[in-house]
Parts: sequence; structure tokens; C-alpha cells
Amino acid sequence: MSKEVLIHWPSGQSSRCTSGRDWLAAARDAGFSIPTGCLGGSCGACEIDVNGTTIRACIATVPPSKSGELTVELATDPYW
Ligand code: FES
Repeated sequence: MSKEVLIHWPSGQSSRCTSGRDWLAAARDAGFSIPTGCLGGSCGACEIDVNGTTIRACIATVPPSKSGELTVELATDPYW
């Protein structure tokens, strides 16, 4: 069963997306770009925090959300 979720991106934008969609595709739809490296789940470049849980965006899909909303933060500080 897929459900629509409202995603809040680190850029301050929000987008609607159906759960089950690839994170990278969902980000692209929203005009947000998640940094990537290997695209195979091993390097960790694409890690994002989703409602406080770190996931690897290249191998994960948008989960359903009870509240209907998900907040995304970049797991890696881009300014180091
Ligand atoms: S791009 Fe390497 S783990 Fe996702």
C-alpha cells in the first residue's frame, strides 16, 4: 500500500511524494540534490537523517509516515 507523504527538505522546501519512491528520485522531484558517491550502499556519501534516523538514500525508499510528514536533514555537515 502506498501513501502520500509530505517531505520537508533541508533547503526549506517541501514536496509531496508517494511512499515507496526512491529517495534520490524524490529529492530530484523536489529540486533538492542529495550528495552521492557509490550509489551502491557502501560509501555513506548519501546519508540523510529522516525524522532523526540515518539512512542511505541511494538504497532506501521513502517510508510511509504515521503523521504524513517526514523531515529530512543531511547527516553530513557540508561545511567541515
Ligand atoms: S552513494 Fe554510496 S552509500 Fe549511497
